[in-house]
Amino acid sequence: MTVLDLRSDTVTQPTAEMRRAMAAAEVGDDVFGEDPTINALEERAADLLGKEAGLFVSTGTMGNLVSQMAHVPRGGEIIAGSQSHMVRDEAAGHAVVVGASVLQLRDRPDGTLDPDAIAASFRDPSDDHEPITALVAIENAHSHSGNQPLSVAYTQQVAAIAHEHGVPLHVDGARFFNSVVALGVAPAELAAPADSLTFCLSKGLSCPAGSVVVGSTAFVGRARRARKLLGGGMRQAGILAAAGLIALRDGDAGMIARLADDHANARRLAERLAAIPGVRSPGDIAQPGGDDEPLDPSRVRTNFVLFRVAADRAAFVAAVASRGVRLERYPHDQVRAATNSGIVAADIDRVAAAVEAALAELGAMKAAVTA
Ligand SMILES: Cc1ncc(COP(=O)(O)O)c(C=O)c1O
Repeated sequence: MTVLDLRSDTVTQPTAEMRRAMAAAEVGDDVFGEDPTINALEERAADLLGKEAGLFVSTGTMGNLVSQMAHVPRGGEIIAGSQSHMVRDEAAGHAVVVGASVLQLRDRPDGTLDPDAIAASFRDPSDDHEPITALVAIENAHSHSGNQPLSVAYTQQVAAIAHEHGVPLHVDGARFFNSVVALGVAPAELAAPADSLTFCLSKGLSCPAGSVVVGSTAFVGRARRARKLLGGGMRQAGILAAAGLIALRDGDAGMIARLADDHANARRLAERLAAIPGVRSPGDIAQPGGDDEPLDPSRVRTNFVLFRVAADRAAFVAAVASRGVRLERYPHDQVRAATNSGIVAADIDRVAAAVEAALAELGAMKAAVTA
């Protein structure tokens, strides 16, 4: 039985072409700036996103961390969403490593933060009691709302508020290209308002490892120093960057345009799941308004399908796995199915059938119908 793995888009495998390119990659010592493949990847990423420079880092977490270190002095404060990855899922790196506090705002169901709340959150720099606001950070796409894409207009609005206060805007764009594809905008247009942005190669773009941070030359210089401090100078890492160069190619030769397939598969899966008794709204910010509501497929705009089940979640995930389909237990009692390059349209029926059969086995469908 082939296993269909939808736990995350990080489970994706490098393509055969990526593996060949990695084997043949020209490499050098990147700490001396001499790895031609890394240099090419950093230039390609900067060009694509309309920024002066790029920096290859090992992970999205490291990309966010070096960005914070480059922007925020010790004792500075970051304005960010309480459900953002930087705040809740990076082992408090902002506090432990950067030495920054976070002023946490409520993330809204569309993945945005209220611009008025952002504007009201800047500290008074003349008051010695207060930390100094040094960064505004948003997440695009925004995972905990269901990987919602944030628009160009919204990003411009937040950047304008930050810049009025002399503070930069960082975009955690771990799945930035999902937003680009979902919104049908040019990457540089969506990135333009941001002073820095990090995106992951290792998620929907299917590379084995790596993220890239982009911004001004001065910012990237500071981020490069921070990367060194964190032990992130990786020498002949062009072997990894070679896969990234393939992922960032235009059109069908690369891995960005194909994200549209993941989005279509996710929407189709949500439509199938919504019709199964025992599948419920994800609740929380991913679809607020009560657990007993059905799943709303129109909220699926990228590659995440979040939902709850009328059954014990661990038992449900195990029952689905016994049918060769792997799903992830996600925060807020949710289950995540993340479509990815290992899943084709024809697999969606099998995933939905596994969910239906697992719920039937656990008696959840009967309970849902009679409730
Ligand atoms: C929104 C967001 N930012 C950052 C990261 C961190 O990426 P990594 O796992 O490469 O450290 C993730 C990982 O899932 C993420 O979802």
